[in-house]
Amino acid sequence: MTVAARPAAGAASAEGRGVGRRPQPGTELAGRSTGARAHLSVVRLPGVYPVQRDTWLLADVVRRELTDGPASSSRVLELGAGTGAVSAVAAGIAGSRVTAVDLSRRALASTWLNAHLRGRRVRVRRGDLGRPVAGERFDVIVSNPPYVPAPTDRLPEHGAARAWDGGRDGRVVLDRVCDQAPALLAPGGRLLLVHSALNGVDETVRRLAADGLAVDVVARCTHPFGPVLTARAALLEDRGLVAPGVRTEELVVVRARRPGVTGPPREDDRRAGEHRSRPSGRSPCPIT
Ligand SMILES: C[S@@+](CC[C@H](N)C(=O)[O-])C[C@H]1O[C@@H](n2cnc3c(N)ncnc32)[C@H](O)[C@@H]1O
Repeated sequence: MTVAARPAAGAASAEGRGVGRRPQPGTELAGRSTGARAHLSVVRLPGVYPVQRDTWLLADVVRRELTDGPASSSRVLELGAGTGAVSAVAAGIAGSRVTAVDLSRRALASTWLNAHLRGRRVRVRRGDLGRPVAGERFDVIVSNPPYVPAPTDRLPEHGAARAWDGGRDGRVVLDRVCDQAPALLAPGGRLLLVHSALNGVDETVRRLAADGLAVDVVARCTHPFGPVLTARAALLEDRGLVAPGVRTEELVVVRARRPGVTGPPREDDRRAGEHRSRPSGRSPCPIT
């Protein structure tokens, strides 16, 4: 089992990943936290995707979305929970009822442990994206799906790469999340989806808007390539996904809101419906 911690501001990532999506092997204590950040330690069974920058970028947006505005109860669904770090953050917010889905038993065990260790409750369900919760409705759906462009469109059925390989353009699972979300969202509900700009943000916006959702980009962050993307740099250049020599990637969090009202309108509700070309979240990277 591994325990990872969110790196302190200015510190190197405990995983040394950047955005490279390389899980740490085995049983070490990675990034053991002390002092103020001890509460952020995350337990991880072997083979489970470690908390990384995309995890925390999404977690920060989720926390903000669930705490802004008037307090209300929220049914939260995480698709592809991994360690459950994001689910644990959501479950710590008063009024949230969180369900976490993953294909991996170890991911769900890690998710349960991470919630339990914090005295929080997360319902875990094993299966393919929304299938285990078909027929239910959620106020907030969060997802950090596998999105790294891969040599082929064939997704790994086993092993750690299942957490990051997303087919040739990285969109195989991402598109399925976009397509399933509208039916799982309650009126006024929101999807919060993190992925790489390498996958094409416009395509995500187009798909979600085509289903009648109001879409905007609420956070962006640029990082150096980690090990997996570095190893695939030539492939990315060949496909024109990065310019020659570029070794940085932008992460985005896309928010898509289903029409309808679940509570009193908030300031940003009035702006929903437009795809803002200037994202609201291009502030300093929350995880550096
Ligand atoms: C990039 S990891 C993200 C984990 C975690 N949410 C985080 O942000 O750290 C993607 C997760 O999705 C899971 N996954 C991949 N394909 C899936 C599918 N079709 N249905 C459910 N989970 C899936 C993987 O097992 C992995 O745990």
